[in-house]
Amino acid sequence: MKFSNRWYCVARASEVSTQPMEQVICDRPIVLFRTAETGKLVALENRCPHRQAPLSMGKVIGDDIMCIYHGWIMDATGQCVYIPGQDNVASSVRVGSYPVVVKWGMIWLWIGDADKVDEGLIPKMDWTEDDEQSSVFIRFYVKADYQLMADNLLDLSHSDFLHASSFGSQAGQRAETDHIKAELETWADEDAVNSVRTLRNVILSPMAAAWASTDQPVTRTHRTRWTPPNNINIELIIENDENKVTIHHDHIMTPETGQSCHYFMIWTRDFAVHSGYPSDEDVRREQTSVIGAEDIPIVEAQQRNRIRFNDPADIPGVGDKFLGAVHRRIAELEKEAKQKSAA
Ligand code: FES
Ligand SMILES: [Fe+2]
Repeated sequence: MKFSNRWYCVARASEVSTQPMEQVICDRPIVLFRTAETGKLVALENRCPHRQAPLSMGKVIGDDIMCIYHGWIMDATGQCVYIPGQDNVASSVRVGSYPVVVKWGMIWLWIGDADKVDEGLIPKMDWTEDDEQSSVFIRFYVKADYQLMADNLLDLSHSDFLHASSFGSQAGQRAETDHIKAELETWADEDAVNSVRTLRNVILSPMAAAWASTDQPVTRTHRTRWTPPNNINIELIIENDENKVTIHHDHIMTPETGQSCHYFMIWTRDFAVHSGYPSDEDVRREQTSVIGAEDIPIVEAQQRNRIRFNDPADIPGVGDKFLGAVHRRIAELEKEAKQKSAA
């Protein structure tokens, strides 16, 4: 885990009920549930203080959770409040708890100091609550370091190769006589790193052409904002004289372990909101197939290869400008965090 004192997205709010569920976040097994009486969202270490059985195998009773093994009961703070056959419970009998909040329909878990909790650090995704736009949520699981999955979004030059037959553009290929170069600008503000990548006069591949209802050349602009730990918002604008459409892609990567991650994606469009193509179902099908069948397999293969070749040094190309800027920002933030904890 790279960052403490940050929010980690752990699930869609609707995924968590009074049926306890386990999520491993930054190598920490966590049980998530809602209490039965007040509906409060709770995140505890997923272990019973008695003999370490997972609480996720237990049951929510009122506003508490009961371990299924010998019936010990913990409250929503992790404090054990009942031991069968025993009159008193020491206050030291407890498991750790984590602050959790719901924002933009997602559950965010705070890893860090309880006195530093700051909801202002959750990335902004206002568009997901706009009635004039439509959002589709998809969750993926990736057998790779969360940084490799984030890096996939930080170097969008892959779109025109890996996604050449789905939603890329015909730009950058060696055989092209008119070699189209992307304009790429990057800058940092606060903890964030931003970029604008513009492709002018490009022909869209079939999927993107259908979204924008045009087969004519377009200007394709990606405005991307990265915030730690690894939240990436991409605003994609496709425009020409015939049409203009905007899509916000929110990609949120949360480490499960050092070599696996949870990947949450929210795809919000400002066209075909109430009818027409694409419907929410079309978006879900297309994005599941593109990310699931194109991006994730190559990122997982990249992870395996890095291990097989003992993590050789990468050689950056021109398309890596933004990725490089984010990696430098991550190194700076890690250094700042270390200095703060040493002070
Ligand atoms: S392990 Fe949970 S009650 Fe015994
Ligand atoms: Fe991709």
